[in-house]
Amino acid sequence: MAVANQHGCLCLALIFIFGTNLVFQATSRTLPIQDSAMYERHEQWMAQYGRVYKDSNDKEKRFKIFKENVARIDAFNTANGKPYKLGINQFADLTNEEFTASRNRFKGHMCSNTAASFKYENVTAVPSAMDWRQKGAVTPVKDQGQCGCCWAFSAVAAMEGINMITTGKLISLSEQELVDCDTKGEDQGCQGGLMDDAFKFIQKIQGLTTETDYPYRGVDGTCNTNKEANHAAKINGYEDVPANSETVLLKAVANQPVSVAIDAGGFEFQFYSGGIFTGACETQLDHGVTAVGYGVGDDGTKYWLVKNSWGTSWGEKGYIRMQRDVDAKEGLCGIAMAASYPTA
Ligand SMILES: *[C@@H]1O[C@H](CO)[C@@H](O)[C@H](O)[C@H]1NC(C)=O
Repeated sequence: MAVANQHGCLCLALIFIFGTNLVFQATSRTLPIQDSAMYERHEQWMAQYGRVYKDSNDKEKRFKIFKENVARIDAFNTANGKPYKLGINQFADLTNEEFTASRNRFKGHMCSNTAASFKYENVTAVPSAMDWRQKGAVTPVKDQGQCGCCWAFSAVAAMEGINMITTGKLISLSEQELVDCDTKGEDQGCQGGLMDDAFKFIQKIQGLTTETDYPYRGVDGTCNTNKEANHAAKINGYEDVPANSETVLLKAVANQPVSVAIDAGGFEFQFYSGGIFTGACETQLDHGVTAVGYGVGDDGTKYWLVKNSWGTSWGEKGYIRMQRDVDAKEGLCGIAMAASYPTA
């Protein structure tokens, strides 16, 4: 998993998995009876997610991982006591190590938020719940695929939000422009990056073009500088939310969608399928997502509403509700450690 050293990354790239040379030989499928049902389930899952393996060795290896994941997910759901469920999703044939190594590439500078100013510092009254989707400030859930550029999706979602709030127009903006063009500093396309550096870059080139104009491809590419003439939205800069206080984070999220870094490396996060996520997770920030609201669940548990970029088959149609106001000042999975937002 992406270790949060100084340049620990948060978004992963899965490519290597499919090129691995496997050492064991193809085995004929004489499976125990319970395995044949599982084998069928794997086949159905492969069809559902369009998964194709390069040979029978690869398929055998992936089947074993699938089987282990299914067993662990079933055991989790059967055991009582958690307010959320796990489910088989598109990541079901990946080990947790492969999953975190390929997808989570936030280049976390741990606790390095040194906010010069925080425009919401004097906010005293906030609504008891907020859902920026209902305010029309959130575009449909996107899918970063096998490219570790969560940082771009997180920054773009926050920018789409402030742009709608200030102009009244919800415009889906281009992550690929960031992946291809923002390559001078810490941001390295599919190898990872930082939301703050993305905001800095967007400010420098005076905006971003639309998703339609510069569509997502999910691989590193050459910057198409012609597109910079077509910028559809701008920002003036960005601010960091002072770290390690969910109360302070709330003041920001009450006013606009906010980029947050979290530790998304755990098995439970990989297979989260719904409910209010309460962990387990650490605070090794390795993934960039966007807080687009907050609220209180039926059982009284407070949560953050978080937009992810793993498509709509993960979580609650691509979203996760993460427990809010936990005992640790860092917030669950470190959500209050490195939050920031663009300014209009
Ligand atoms: C918050 O209030 C203090 C004291 O009145 C003031 O100095 C500061 O500028 C205010 N901050 C913002 C962002 O408005």
